[in-house]
Amino acid sequence: MRKKPNILIIDDDKDFVYNMRDILQEEGYTADTADNGQAAVKLCGEKLFDLILVDIKLPDMTGLELIERLSLQAQGTEYIVITGYASIESAVEAVRKKDIVSYETKPVDMNSILSLIRQVMERRAVEEQLRESEGKFRSVFEGAVDGILAADAETMKIKFANPAICRFLGYEEKELVNMGVNDIHPKGSLKHVTEAFKKQVKGEIAIAEDMPCLRKNGKVIFADIGSRPIRMGGRLLNVGFFRDVTDRKKMNEEILKAQKLESLGILTGGIAHDFNNMLTVIITSVFSMKTEIKPEGDAFEALGRIEKAALRAKGLTQQLLTFSKAGVPIKESASIAALIKESADFALSGSNVKCKFRIPGNLWDAEVDKGQMQQVMNNLIINAEQSMPKGGVINLSAENVDAGTCREIALKEGKYVKLSVNDNGKGIPEENLSRIFDPFFTTKEKGSGMGLSAAYSIIKKHNGYIRVESKEGTGTTFYIYIPAMENRPVDPGSYAPKKNSAGKIRILLMDDEEQIRQATGCILRSLGYEAELAADGLEAVELYSRAKRSGNPFDAVIMDLTIPGGMGGRDAIKELIKIEAEVRAIASSGYSNDPIMSEYGKYGFKGVVAKPYTGEELSNAILKVMK
Ligand SMILES: Nc1ncnc2c1ncn2[C@@H]1O[C@H](COP(=O)(O)OP(=O)(O)OP(=O)(O)O)[C@@H](O)[C@H]1O
Ligand SMILES: [Mg+2]
Repeated sequence: MRKKPNILIIDDDKDFVYNMRDILQEEGYTADTADNGQAAVKLCGEKLFDLILVDIKLPDMTGLELIERLSLQAQGTEYIVITGYASIESAVEAVRKKDIVSYETKPVDMNSILSLIRQVMERRAVEEQLRESEGKFRSVFEGAVDGILAADAETMKIKFANPAICRFLGYEEKELVNMGVNDIHPKGSLKHVTEAFKKQVKGEIAIAEDMPCLRKNGKVIFADIGSRPIRMGGRLLNVGFFRDVTDRKKMNEEILKAQKLESLGILTGGIAHDFNNMLTVIITSVFSMKTEIKPEGDAFEALGRIEKAALRAKGLTQQLLTFSKAGVPIKESASIAALIKESADFALSGSNVKCKFRIPGNLWDAEVDKGQMQQVMNNLIINAEQSMPKGGVINLSAENVDAGTCREIALKEGKYVKLSVNDNGKGIPEENLSRIFDPFFTTKEKGSGMGLSAAYSIIKKHNGYIRVESKEGTGTTFYIYIPAMENRPVDPGSYAPKKNSAGKIRILLMDDEEQIRQATGCILRSLGYEAELAADGLEAVELYSRAKRSGNPFDAVIMDLTIPGGMGGRDAIKELIKIEAEVRAIASSGYSNDPIMSEYGKYGFKGVVAKPYTGEELSNAILKVMK
């Protein structure tokens, strides 16, 4: 129940005061009395009054002086001044003051003053109700976790905004109130936003889901926006309720990404074997042909082009393989310095972009999958080149860093080789920075968006770290950290093709693909080896054993790991070890996820070569087991 209004009557005319008090109490008000200013001040210190009737002439002060004092003491009280005709001018003057609602002349007309009091009280009751409902609305509006924004249904100008939407969008309320709906959404989605807004105004849709919103700092975030049109000040407003769904959307995207990667992995896993076999035939055949024809002339150049295209195809298969389980790195010690230079030469042949190297002579080596690391460098260098269509310089630097003293990022204890690829190209817009490592994210017409995601997954599999710094219009730098090797056992010349000079070394090659056998056989012979070929494990074991018995044994065996429907390298090695415990066997497969490829030693192999291989890679693998 609403509380009774409190009224105070201050006058030294006792008859009037008590008479008035009784009438007011009958009317349902609580009425108190005071016959001088001091008594009134005391009473007002103890109790809050809604309305005070005060005589303009009091024994100890004037009514106006009293009002002045009381209004300092309590706010919200209103006053009716009672005056004799003699002082009516000062009463009229008084009414101009705040809080004094009216004046009554003596002798007071009871009906008139009562009607005035009723009016004042009714108005105050309505005002209080309004204040209460406004208070409720304010607390909901200001305390809401969801953002609330009201915009004119026609002009789409923002009219009010609650604190949550200010936090969500990163603006102050006064900034938002001068903006339009179009200013808080990214340009690319304005058509969609306007359509959704108009539909909400017409009541055609209640919630617009996953709407991209633009923060003041340029970052794009997402909200589900519920709405309710309301009429205010003669205008129709659309009140939007924004729920931040950025995390949910990210999570869904992550799930989607994982699903995409999984199907991509299954797909590539399925075709990689055949694809790699075909590429091995092409690459090895080109290698053999190049050794047989004169380096001058169109044919040699054409072979170069075939080789380049085949190597690119190999690169693409590798790119895809990193997403599947097949991307396990086959690590070997490598000179990172040589690797950087080779990658730059390869990636920038024929380009108008120059490379500047800053690589110290004492750069540590690292245990890496050379193919995969070259892939990472190629991807970064090609991106840098593409960001400078008018040409420019790519700075390739490397340095040794110790995780203990390196403050740049949180790295696990140990030594690292830090590489950086820097360009002064167009840079990456802030809103894209968090997305560039996502598979399929590309801003290029012909990009597949896989370069950086492949680089990311490769570096991760090497227990390394990759990060980017970029500024639009200025340039981009990618930093890579790879665990370094404690010592330096690398043969720096291992990148150059090695030709066997003894001429007596006998190699047994086992592969179920006829074309691979022929092409690789040619390479082996062109490298100076004597090569014999076997189509499956049984045949290889038979040939190996017979050669040993006849006193013309093989020096090394290269075996394909998987032979559909026949004995593969995995089983053949067990048989070969029975014949010769220290057999120099090299495992070869297009599936680098085969555990044998990364842990070949455990299975009895002495080396490994991943298909498709180049002549250089084959030669290096053989030389390594022959040591
Ligand atoms: N050095 C760079 N300068 C400017 N933008 C870059 C740079 N590197 C990457 N990006 C941005 O990151 C996106 C993703 O790069 P990523 O290498 O993954 O794919 P892509 O280059 O578009 O396609 P792909 O590498 O598969 O041919 C690019 O489309 C580009 O917008
Ligand atoms: Mg790229």
